[in-house]
Amino acid sequence: MPKILRIIILTIVSLTFAASAAVCDEFTKDDLKQWNAQFMSSVKEGEKLFHSSLGRNTVSCDMCHPNAANTHPETYPKFQKQLGKVITLGDMINWCIINPLEGDKLDLDDPKMIALEAYITYERRGVKLAPGKH
Ligand code: HEC
Repeated sequence: MPKILRIIILTIVSLTFAASAAVCDEFTKDDLKQWNAQFMSSVKEGEKLFHSSLGRNTVSCDMCHPNAANTHPETYPKFQKQLGKVITLGDMINWCIINPLEGDKLDLDDPKMIALEAYITYERRGVKLAPGKH
């Protein structure tokens, strides 16, 4: 391929990337405020669920994990011996719903599951990611 053609192609490719990056970054302060409000409402919902009985007994998450203690969301995905494989945070939450709470597992995209994950993860904000760690 002639050198000039290569330069032209490279220029077109990089301009396309630059243009799409600029489009992706286009959001307003109002957008950010609204998205954060949506996220925080999921966190609040998760906090409520964490303090309520989600299963068939009267046990709630906070009895064993006060303020989401010892939930270590930053270590997922990781191998968990209870399930004998590499699992996500949601799978581990389901393990606790099924076992200590004697309840039915939630779908991983259930808004309640997302809220629990939002709350647990928000409580650990700022902690360094450590996937796989024990
Ligand atoms: C009766 C006590 C008890 C209750 C109630 C309980 N858990 Fe657990 N939870 C445990 C135990 C035991 C483990 C396993 C610790 C381990 O092996 O990492 C665990 C582990 C976890 C982990 C993973 C911790 C880690 O270090 O990897 C998460 C996340 C979690 N629980 C969330 C929840 C949620 C959400 C609820 C409520 C739906 C809940 N738990 C209710 C006892 C409980």
